[in-house]
Amino acid sequence: MHVYLNGHYLAARDASISPLDRGFLFGDGIYEVVRAVDGRLIEAERHWKRLARSLRETRIERPLALGDDAVSGIALRLLEENGLMQGHALVYLEITRGSVSPRTHHFPPAGTAPTVFASAAAFTPFDGQRISGVPVILAPDERWARCDIKSVSLLPNILAKQQAAESGCREAWLVDGEGFVTEGTSSNAWIVDREGRLVTRPLGPAILGGVTRAVVLELAAAAGIATTERPFAVAEALEAREAFLTSTSSLVLPVTSIDGRPVANGRPGSTTRSLLAAYAHHAGLTLPWQEGDTAA
Ligand code: PDD
Repeated sequence: MHVYLNGHYLAARDASISPLDRGFLFGDGIYEVVRAVDGRLIEAERHWKRLARSLRETRIERPLALGDDAVSGIALRLLEENGLMQGHALVYLEITRGSVSPRTHHFPPAGTAPTVFASAAAFTPFDGQRISGVPVILAPDERWARCDIKSVSLLPNILAKQQAAESGCREAWLVDGEGFVTEGTSSNAWIVDREGRLVTRPLGPAILGGVTRAVVLELAAAAGIATTERPFAVAEALEAREAFLTSTSSLVLPVTSIDGRPVANGRPGSTTRSLLAAYAHHAGLTLPWQEGDTAA
């Protein structure tokens, strides 16, 4: 695998960063994950906008030479160098506050170069789960109060995701102190409520503003699907007509059970399926099945 590190393209095994890097010592960095299809970056503009926001909010200095076009250029070159111009891939980009000795919590001196790393890997976008849906568990949301920043400090997310994996589930839906679902460990959470309205948590510090979430909201509006951005409680999710999650890697993924309890009849709902079809159409993706196929 070829990666990008601080201006250089090189084999992953030859890439190294200092153990004094603040990403390593403190988790002092931010990241983005962008989907690529046949050498096209999907929703790059929104991803780079969120990248800029994460840098601003964390006060990590953006290297002058790292404008949006440069970032897209890095992503595309990595796709090329890794033979990923055909098919689906995920591009990972991380920027940390750089490295400085000795270790101190406060920022390094002005002018310390951030560390910029990027990689690209092939990705299987459509598996059987896309059609049949996935189970999720519930877990307490033990993250910090700025989940709107795409920080690499992901310990609570990792612990909850592992708990999900050990329960045979794809994702954990995180529950705040009042019993409301915030989001998944690496995805946004949605339901279709008893009135048929699409519901997802409003933007704010409790969730990451997902790029897929934003696109799905626009597609729902265009399709005339009534939508409310409001918190929903666990009890409401358990009674919902449909549930699904969204992310760059998962697109629109039906959730068919929550903590072992089926959502409605335990099969992907029609609104979920039509939103996935709309998303695929919007992004120029081909679904490997016809809309209207019976869920497997
Ligand atoms: N997930 N919430 C969290 C906590 C996330 O980590 C992610 C992204 C999302 C969805 O955001 P987007 O639609 O922009 O990918 C929500 C990683 C990067 C992923 O699974 O792709």
